[in-house]
Amino acid sequence: MSFVEALKNRRTIYAINRNTEVANDEIIALIKEAVRQSPSAFNSQTSRAVILLDDEVSSFWNELVATDLEATMKEQGVPAEAIAATKEKLAGFGQAKGTILFFEDQDVVKGLQENFPLYAENFPFWSEQSTGIVSINTWTALSAEFGFGANLQHYNPVIDASVAAKYGVPANWKLRGQLNFGAIEAPAGDKEYMADEDRFKVFG
Ligand SMILES: Cc1cc2nc3c(=O)[nH]c(=O)nc-3n(C[C@H](O)[C@H](O)[C@H](O)COP(=O)(O)O)c2cc1C
Repeated sequence: MSFVEALKNRRTIYAINRNTEVANDEIIALIKEAVRQSPSAFNSQTSRAVILLDDEVSSFWNELVATDLEATMKEQGVPAEAIAATKEKLAGFGQAKGTILFFEDQDVVKGLQENFPLYAENFPFWSEQSTGIVSINTWTALSAEFGFGANLQHYNPVIDASVAAKYGVPANWKLRGQLNFGAIEAPAGDKEYMADEDRFKVFG
């Protein structure tokens, strides 16, 4: 598969499951390699990841996320039907083969700001870019290597405290996203693309 084909194949896919022969060790190794090979400002390697597989995925979405989200929605006076619909959606995520929790190490960001005052205000942005790079590399790698589908979620910061407590995550790791992945049950929907003339300028 060419690199461009891999880019095209990487789509947001919600209907995913655990129907795969790929061994957990292979999945873990690929995720680690995708994170490791992702660039970061000053090679600061700010990204951190917690990898959940199989039953841990179910318990993450159906227990941890559902509990925190329900409490927050109740506080906000959200109607019971909307809460039930959200829980149903979370139960769908809970069927994934794996969920990767992506973090950025804020101690490293602060250290860079102190050591390189000239760029101080850039480091938080570069850290955000790093999490994007790590997310997309992992997402594309899982698609290209194993034919997996994936979707990227953002239930932070609602779940941050529970995640830190359950997985022993240090306080300086800031949760930035959750990537669900698994065997594809139903393909991605159609995708629209904006017109090239509104997007690009080419000279020369
Ligand atoms: C930075 C970023 C944040 C996103 N956040 C979410 C999200 O919270 N929930 C979700 O279902 N999809 C999320 N997505 C997926 C986008 O909706 C999706 O990538 C976009 O519609 C293009 O579709 P594609 O991924 O199939 O190419 C996010 C994507 C990006 C790049």
